[in-house]
Amino acid sequence: MSVDIVERTAPGKVILCGEHSVVYGRPAIAVPVGTLRATARVVPGPVGSGLHIHALDLNQTIALSATGTSHPLAKIARLVLDTLGVPEPDAVLSLISDLPVASGMGSGTAVTVAAARALSASLGRPLPPETVSALTYEVEKIHHGTPSGIDNTVIAYEQPVFFVRGAAPETFRIHTPFHLLIASSGIAASTVGSVTEVRHRWEAAQSYYNVIFDCIGAIALAARAAVEQGALGALGVLFNENHGLLAKMGVSLYQLDLLTDAAREAGALGAKLTGSGQGGNIIALVEPERLDAVRLALTSAGATATWSVLIGT
Ligand code: MEV
Repeated sequence: MSVDIVERTAPGKVILCGEHSVVYGRPAIAVPVGTLRATARVVPGPVGSGLHIHALDLNQTIALSATGTSHPLAKIARLVLDTLGVPEPDAVLSLISDLPVASGMGSGTAVTVAAARALSASLGRPLPPETVSALTYEVEKIHHGTPSGIDNTVIAYEQPVFFVRGAAPETFRIHTPFHLLIASSGIAASTVGSVTEVRHRWEAAQSYYNVIFDCIGAIALAARAAVEQGALGALGVLFNENHGLLAKMGVSLYQLDLLTDAAREAGALGAKLTGSGQGGNIIALVEPERLDAVRLALTSAGATATWSVLIGT
């Protein structure tokens, strides 16, 4: 099977509102972060070589024929080939990402989506977003057993999404582009660890956690309306409320609270952790004239890296 030289990318993401409760069927909203991306490149390999996959950030190379599908990169390659009904090509698939790992920005998901896009395009049969999303979901299950599906959806569709587990994803429009400052706590976040911990807490006190999940679901609905209307002040308040409920759920950390407090005190409209929490990143909604002050405050409060991104362009 011959392949074309092809390069495809995929964006990072941030969950604006609704992480964790989305695993329990409540709505959540997420947006792609187009300026930070994973890149996949396919080039033809020597005849008879099969498919080799280079994960450049990890300095790891695997041969598809010698790797089981518990390996995420082998799994996505196999899924793409099986979906297209084509034999393993003689090719090299190289992957690299500018997204920080274990930070809540969807680094692993973006690499998987970029790989699926590039491999299918190199075989002359580019897969549509819904198929890339569905195949990526299968890979997400390796990382944690009960993914909601929001990460693969927002990254594969590359659109703002309103997501309810089990329902068709809805994309929506951003009325007024807005600036987010993303700040890293420098602490690695484990999605599986924090999702499992929330599950244990929920099993032990379901009625209490169901109320928290309901409140967060209501916040996600209101946040979608705020984004669609350009009501950024309201969106900031919803970020703050959502962070408080995530803290009650036990997925914030002292360092994440310090960062969100520092952002608010420096004039952010609102701030919250994003993703699975217990490490990783916070997002702060910031008007352009406050960006420098909020960035400085975040760095003083211990942020190990910050990214300023404009959402909705
Ligand atoms: C992780 O980015 C988001 C979580 O809600 C998990 C999930 O939705 O699968 C924590």
